[in-house]
Amino acid sequence: MAVVALLLAAACHRHAQPVAGPLPPRDAYAGSARCAKCHEKNHARWDEDWHARALSPAEPQFVAGPFDGTYFRSASTEASMERRGDTFAMTTAPASGPPREYPVEWLIGGKRMQDAVTAFPDGRWQVLPVYYHVTTREWVDYNEKKQGLVTKDHPFFWTNFRRTANHECLNCHTTGLDVRYDRGTHRWSTKFADAGVACEACHGPGARHAATKAKADIIRADDLDRDRGLALCGQCHGPREPIYPFLDAKHRFRPGDRYDDKLQPLVIVDGLDRSGEFFADGRPSSSSFEYQAVLQSRCYLRGGATCITCHTAPHAKRVANELPPAGAGISADDATCHDCHAAIFGAGQQHTHHKARAAQSCVACHMPPVVTGVLDHFADHTLDVPNPRNTIEHGVPNACNVCHATAAPESMQAALTALWPAAAARQARRSLLADAIDEKTSSRSMPALIAVLEDRAETPTLRAAAGILLGQRFPKDAAASIVPLLHDRDPLLRSRLIEALGYARATGSADAVAALLDDPAVKVRERAAVVLTMFHDRRGEPALERLVRDPATATLVWPHLLLGTAAGQRGDLDRATLEMNRALDIVPYLPDALVFLADINMRRHDPARARAYLTEALTFDPRHRGARGRLAALDGMAQQVR
Ligand code: HEC
Ligand code: HEC
Ligand code: HEC
Ligand code: HEC
Ligand code: HEC
Ligand code: HEC
Ligand code: HEC
Ligand code: HEC
Repeated sequence: MAVVALLLAAACHRHAQPVAGPLPPRDAYAGSARCAKCHEKNHARWDEDWHARALSPAEPQFVAGPFDGTYFRSASTEASMERRGDTFAMTTAPASGPPREYPVEWLIGGKRMQDAVTAFPDGRWQVLPVYYHVTTREWVDYNEKKQGLVTKDHPFFWTNFRRTANHECLNCHTTGLDVRYDRGTHRWSTKFADAGVACEACHGPGARHAATKAKADIIRADDLDRDRGLALCGQCHGPREPIYPFLDAKHRFRPGDRYDDKLQPLVIVDGLDRSGEFFADGRPSSSSFEYQAVLQSRCYLRGGATCITCHTAPHAKRVANELPPAGAGISADDATCHDCHAAIFGAGQQHTHHKARAAQSCVACHMPPVVTGVLDHFADHTLDVPNPRNTIEHGVPNACNVCHATAAPESMQAALTALWPAAAARQARRSLLADAIDEKTSSRSMPALIAVLEDRAETPTLRAAAGILLGQRFPKDAAASIVPLLHDRDPLLRSRLIEALGYARATGSADAVAALLDDPAVKVRERAAVVLTMFHDRRGEPALERLVRDPATATLVWPHLLLGTAAGQRGDLDRATLEMNRALDIVPYLPDALVFLADINMRRHDPARARAYLTEALTFDPRHRGARGRLAALDGMAQQVR
């Protein structure tokens, strides 16, 4: 026995020696099977966690819905679900032609809902149109529920680009994703280290660690500072735009990165549009926005709470929703509040003013289930105090009326003020945010927008949204409040405020914008150059030229687009073609750039190539007006010739 133990120890010891030969690069993935060799227990637990099922092959043990010939019909979609042996298929109509049978190759999720994915011959993975809702056991037309009637030219029709999983989904549902698009053959290729959210999505690429076994070669969330720790989970738990283009795998977010160096979160405004996923008081109204919500919470702002303050890792002992097991006499949900708010637990009914057990739960009043999925309700992660006043003034749901469903919000606000005399001071923040953000009261929102923008204790994402709304709604007055804040220490705020000046067309602020052309943050430099160019400021184009020449920023797409447009306006068609092609090498699915190239080819009397570009533009945006109009004109010309 002892000899065996000694031999084993010696073997392990030998193993611990530094490996010979060159080490794998820091960004190389090993895949979870390699990790399992040394971390068997962590792997086994993770394998039972829903993160592991974020993407699964369409094998019988993972399929949630009944593929038994079920026929489904909605206003937009007809489909039937069939099983043959161990394979699954959905029969439904493509954009043109009769219904066809599509094999299900992959499955996304399975806890509350599950999407089936089919692979097209050109390498696109399309999300099939009906998904299975697990808790209510029904098939649902997700796109119709979210978008209304979905016709075949609708961006969300299932064969269209917005439903191409390679681009729209896999980033958060796989690990070590490598997607490419070949502009010559119009084919997609997709590789990943793991289907689903696996070890290296949270611990960083680990091939080097698997060789060295060194702590220094692997990331651990609880060793990171507050913001990097939050970003590790936040990279997926909230919709966002990458700062570098999606296909630029080298600059993708990795655990340990600062969020703001790689991503910009979607908050309230999306360019000139309003996001439909936020309430009028700035809280996310849809599921999967936990990052945006926690950023707003005072538990994070003042207490430093991040996801893993309350949630466990997917390989720890836990209850549902990855919460730690509850203690005696306290639910798992409320237990997450205890360490920081012990005094309020001590106060008991003096704080909750309720006798019913359910109404003494912290989560019932501070994380009410007002966030919606398609058929589910989720906990509000902004962790704010109830505010029926905002229901009255702005139509936003509040925690009290979740239970007191038939009571008027007026009576809830009155009861709240009577029972919690200190509440007004706490409610003031959300009241101000709603007065600022709500579109319906926008005509009188200026003072509130300025107050949110100037409040240094407010979370930067909300200050940034206030700045953009100010620029859009009150263009004449915006610059006076925005310019003094352009040097705030938060890079997201700086870049968004430059954008806001662009919406306001505040050309008088050009000097202040130009002062940010050498900002340390890439996005700030890019926005400053873009906005100056839009102001027709002479400093714009040289700044764009610098960005495309600097290897650190050469893959940003805006500088190429604007330089190409400017060259086109000067009549320099060669340079215009070059820049637009560079833009398309980085982001191949830019309908505007494709239409621009079509125009150049028309000027060069090459209608056949122009047509090819226009057709390609429509594959990415079937409703693109410019492409449709030009194609119709080309068809007209062709008829005349005949
Ligand atoms: C050849 C064995 C081996 C492989 C393969 C391996 N690890 Fe490790 N890992 C170790 C050892 C040994 C330690 C403990 C290091 C120490 O305490 O100094 C460790 C520690 C860790 C830690 C904790 C680090 C810390 O700071 O406490 C994490 C996280 C981790 N590994 C993740 C992974 C992941 C993810 C993979 C797959 C990409 C992986 N490991 C593959 C041997 C391995
Ligand atoms: C690479 C993307 C990604 C990362 C990183 C990530 N998640 Fe997730 N998370 C997901 C996806 C996708 C799901 C849904 C999985 C499913 O149900 O198939 C999910 C589900 C969850 C759930 C719900 C599980 C349940 O049982 O309903 C919790 C809680 C959660 N994640 C917390 C975290 C925390 C905490 C972190 C950071 C330590 C984290 N996630 C990191 C993508 C990610
Ligand atoms: C920004 C990252 C991100 C992207 C992109 C993304 N998801 Fe998710 N998805 C998540 C997270 C995180 C969850 C877990 C739910 C939550 O956080 O509330 C999730 C959950 C789901 C679930 C529910 C899983 C379950 O077990 O109930 C489905 C289904 C799903 N996503 C499908 C999709 C599809 C289809 C796409 C592309 C059209 C997509 N997702 C794109 C992050 C993402
Ligand atoms: C959704 C994010 C996430 C995924 C996926 C994930 N981990 Fe972790 N892991 C964490 C977090 C957070 C911690 C630190 C907190 C803790 O220990 O509870 C951790 C801790 C660890 C540790 C050190 C502590 C311990 O338990 O020994 C190891 C080793 C580890 N993970 C390995 C793995 C392996 C192997 C996989 C894949 C099979 C994996 N992890 C998948 C989030 C994740
Ligand atoms: C202050 C504690 C706390 C923090 C911080 C926190 N959560 Fe939660 N989370 C909870 C609780 C409690 C629940 C369960 C709520 C319920 O049962 O209604 C939950 C539920 C969830 C769920 C399940 C779906 C839902 O909303 O019911 C997901 C996903 C999730 N959290 C992700 C995250 C992510 C990602 C972060 C970080 C961005 C995070 N949480 C931060 C306490 C927290
Ligand atoms: C890591 C510590 C921490 C955790 C965990 C935590 N909080 Fe907090 N929370 C704080 C701090 C610090 C504040 C700010 C206190 C203040 O403003 O006086 C705060 C503020 C609040 C507020 C006041 C919000 C506002 O905008 O004024 C509420 C409500 C709250 N927490 C509820 C909760 C609930 C419910 C949980 C559990 C689901 C929880 N907290 C978990 C640290 C925490
Ligand atoms: C029935 C509703 C209700 C329940 C249940 C409830 N609260 Fe509150 N809570 C409020 C209201 C209303 C306020 C705002 C008035 C105030 O500041 O006292 C508030 C304020 C707070 C604050 C900020 C003020 C302060 O004293 O720090 C914290 C933190 C807080 N609650 C935590 C908790 C925790 C932790 C629990 C669970 C033990 C809990 N609450 C249960 C309604 C509730
Ligand atoms: C989890 C559900 C729940 C939430 C959330 C909740 N209540 Fe109640 N409320 C009850 C129940 C059950 C009773 C009756 C028993 C009791 O006092 O607990 C009640 C009783 C009351 C009463 C006594 C008169 C009556 O209508 O029966 C008032 C007033 C009241 N709640 C106000 C509020 C206010 C204000 C809020 C928000 C700050 C709130 N409640 C949040 C469930 C809830």
